[in-house]
Parts: sequence; C-alpha cells; structure tokens
Amino acid sequence: MSHVKKVFIKSYGCQMNVYDAERMADVLAPEGYVETATADDADLVILNTCHIREKAAEKVYSELGRLRQLKSERAAEGKATSVVVAGCVAQAEGGEITRRAPVVDLVVGPQSYHRLPSLLARSGNGAKVVDTEFPAEDKFDHLPTPARAVTKARGVSAFLTVQEGCDKFCTFCVVPYTRGAEVSRPVAKILAEAERLADAGVREITLIGQNVNAYHGEGPDGRTWTLGRLLERLSTVPGIARLRYTTSHPRDMDAALIAAHRDLPTLMPYLHLPVQSGSDRILAAMNRQHTGDDYRRIIDEVRAARPDIALSSDFIVGFPGETDADFADTLRLVREVGFASAYSFKYSPRPGTPAAERDGQLPEAVKAARLAVLQAALDESRRAFNAATVGIVTEVLVEREGRHPGQLAGKSPYLQAVQFDGEGAQIGGIITVEITEAGPNSLFGRPLAGATVRDGVAAL
Ligand code: 5AD
Ligand code: SF4
Repeated sequence: MSHVKKVFIKSYGCQMNVYDAERMADVLAPEGYVETATADDADLVILNTCHIREKAAEKVYSELGRLRQLKSERAAEGKATSVVVAGCVAQAEGGEITRRAPVVDLVVGPQSYHRLPSLLARSGNGAKVVDTEFPAEDKFDHLPTPARAVTKARGVSAFLTVQEGCDKFCTFCVVPYTRGAEVSRPVAKILAEAERLADAGVREITLIGQNVNAYHGEGPDGRTWTLGRLLERLSTVPGIARLRYTTSHPRDMDAALIAAHRDLPTLMPYLHLPVQSGSDRILAAMNRQHTGDDYRRIIDEVRAARPDIALSSDFIVGFPGETDADFADTLRLVREVGFASAYSFKYSPRPGTPAAERDGQLPEAVKAARLAVLQAALDESRRAFNAATVGIVTEVLVEREGRHPGQLAGKSPYLQAVQFDGEGAQIGGIITVEITEAGPNSLFGRPLAGATVRDGVAAL
C-alpha cells in the first residue's frame, strides 16, 4: 500500500479562498493526500494567499521564511516537503515568488489549481513550476466531487462559488487583475452542487463571488438568470434551510434581489454591501459609480422589503486626497445607516492600480487615527444592534460544540454568534432560542422547546 501523504493548506483573506482551499483538498484526495492541521508533519504545504492589501501579501513571505526552516529540518530526517504558493499573490507575482523565496516549488494561480496533480509531478527536486494562466477550460468542470463524508465533516454551513472576477475596476482594488473578468457559473451546475451539499447534511449555503450580485448565469431555460432568480430556485432545494450571499456591489442591487429579501423565508436577513466611503468626492475618485445618497436610497429599499435586516459593509480610510471633511461624511453615513457589523481598512496602495499612482497619498499616522475613530463608531453601532436583539425569540442554526462543556454554538439569522446550553446531537438542527444577553463577541440564548419564532429587531 502506498504511504498516505499529508497536505496542510493555509488560507488567507476572503471566503473565496476558503472555498478554493477545500477544492484543492478535493483535487488532491484521489492522489492519496489527506489534510493535516499543521505544517510540521505535512509532505505538501499550500499557502492560499491574498493580495488585497500589502499587509496580507507580506504575511506570505514571513510564512515562507518559517517554511524554509521546516523544509530543511524535515530534509535532515530524510523527508521531502513540497511548498506551493496559490491564490492571488501567486497570480500577481508569479515567478517573482520563486526568485525571492527559493523554498517554493510551485506557484499556481486561482484559475489553475485543478491542475495541481500534474503541476506537482513536474515540480520538486529543484524544478520550479509557475502556472498563472487563465485557461480556456472551465476549472469547475475539472474538479472532482468530494466524498459525502468529507463534505459532512466540513460542517452544516457551506460556501458555494457562483461567480468569480470583477469588471468594476475600483481604483484601489487588485481583484480585476488577480481574479480577472466577471464569470458566472451556469444555474444547473450550481443547483447540482447545492443538492450534493444538502445530501451531505449542509443546512446553510452562502453563495460567494467577488461581485456576487452581478451574477448573470445561464439558466436551464437558456436565458440569463440574475442572483434574485437563482436564490428563488435554490430556496426550493430540500434540506437547505438558509441562504446567504456575499459580497455585493451597490450598483448591482436590483429590484428582484431586493424583492427576494421580502419574499424568500430561506434568504437570511443579512446583507454585506460595501460602501467604502461616505464622501461623494472620494466615491467618484474610487470609481464606485454611486454616491452616498444612492447608497442610502438602496438601504431604504432593502429595509422596506425586510425591516429587520442586519447590514454590514467595508470601509477604506485614508484614500489619496481624503480630507477631514470627506472622513466626516463617512462617519455621518455610519451613524445614519446603523451597521450590525463591518470591516474597515487603512488604504493600502497596490502596485498596478490607478489610485497607487495618485497625488495626495496620506501619511500612515493620519490613516491610523481615522481608522481608530471609524472603528469606535462601527463598534458602537454593532453593540447597539446586538443589544436590540436581547429579548427576541429567534432561530439558531446549531453549528458546533460551544466554548464550554454542555454548550453549543450557532448563528442567528443576523449572522450573530450565539452560545447556549445543549447536546451535540442537536448540531445541524435549527432551534428556537430567546436571546438573553449580548457579550462582546457573541450572544447568549436560552433554548425554548415548542416556542414560535418572533424575529423582531424591526424596531431597531
Ligand atoms: N486598501 C485597503 N483596503 C482595500 N480593500 C480592497 N482594496 C484595498 C486597498 N487597496 C478592501 C475594500 C474591499 C475589501 C474586500 O477590502 O474595502 O471591499
Ligand atoms: Fe474590487 Fe471594486 Fe471589484 Fe469589489 S467591486 S472586487 S472593490 S474592483
């Protein structure tokens, strides 16, 4: 019998990378690889990287420094270790990576990882292989279906890629260059994947794409389907109790998608809709193609369709030329909209993007000070949202054992982490709880047998 080979995959960045990491494990499983939780005993180490901000990209090189040490220690014990850099840094930097970090055997971009077995066979023993092409063949058609037990072990909540790439060209963003043009998968393929997930016990599917609400895939009727229509179809898949989608662009929030938030009980009341800035001047410089008021109007429409919806967003502070007055506009938007959660970042100039070349780059200290003020405002907003859910009776999808024995953890419809007392057999179930307390990182709930749900943060 051939010896079992171990692969350690470390993912950085967004949900797309989490999904891709699972697909890489699926591609390697027929080659005899099983996943391991640490690099120390791995025959193959894959760093699935993120290029969105400089800090994210730099992490890769420090990790490669540690792997160089590990590879030589293992070599001294007679064990070989292959090191692969995948993901968006691979796409952006290609052969530069093997030059800067000779420990790397293979560099593979996000559109080529279905070829991992043949690429690995060509690399090693000093041979460096770089594949950052956008092949004409559809990567998804070349990915093997994982065993049911493998999918089951990954949990009751799963990601499903429906769209990749971006055509928006925001002036700060590398995504259109690393992930390429927008491509939507056909409805039939997505449906088959959703049914397979449901069959393995998945209860919640989050549809993912760099610009997911720009989805325009081929429907079974030969017409182009939008995300709203896709969600409606997926809501009929037996076993799937919850649907979510991320990440969206304000320009693509169409009427059908907003109506889906009113009409589909399986579509969870949560929307991640990045706004980036509250200043019209900065939004224009970012090429976002909408104003602050356009965003407010969309939010009003979404709230009219689903009054209790939890809103989330992304923000960038310190974009080139951002003044105190521009930043004040961002704070005003935050206070007016009321976000349940948010991600916020200091602007990071990315090579090859238009904004990186602009005049008016701001000093680090200004960016750091604005980020601290913004994060305090977003924190306050999040706490207010969580506090308003104390006392409601809602449903929790039970995902895993909790932090303490006898506790379970799951998510509310609003994507809040909830801890409560219960037994392992309940994992995968949807239970009714009364939210009793809001802690800094999660809520606490009391299970109510036989209670009816009164979701009710509409009063927010
Ligand atoms: N600098 C800082 N943040 C960025 N983002 C994208 N590019 C940059 C950059 N150059 C943020 C945006 C985006 C999120 C995924 O990352 O807010 O929505
Ligand atoms: Fe980047 Fe803008 Fe596309 Fe989002 S919409 S991936 S921020 S270019």
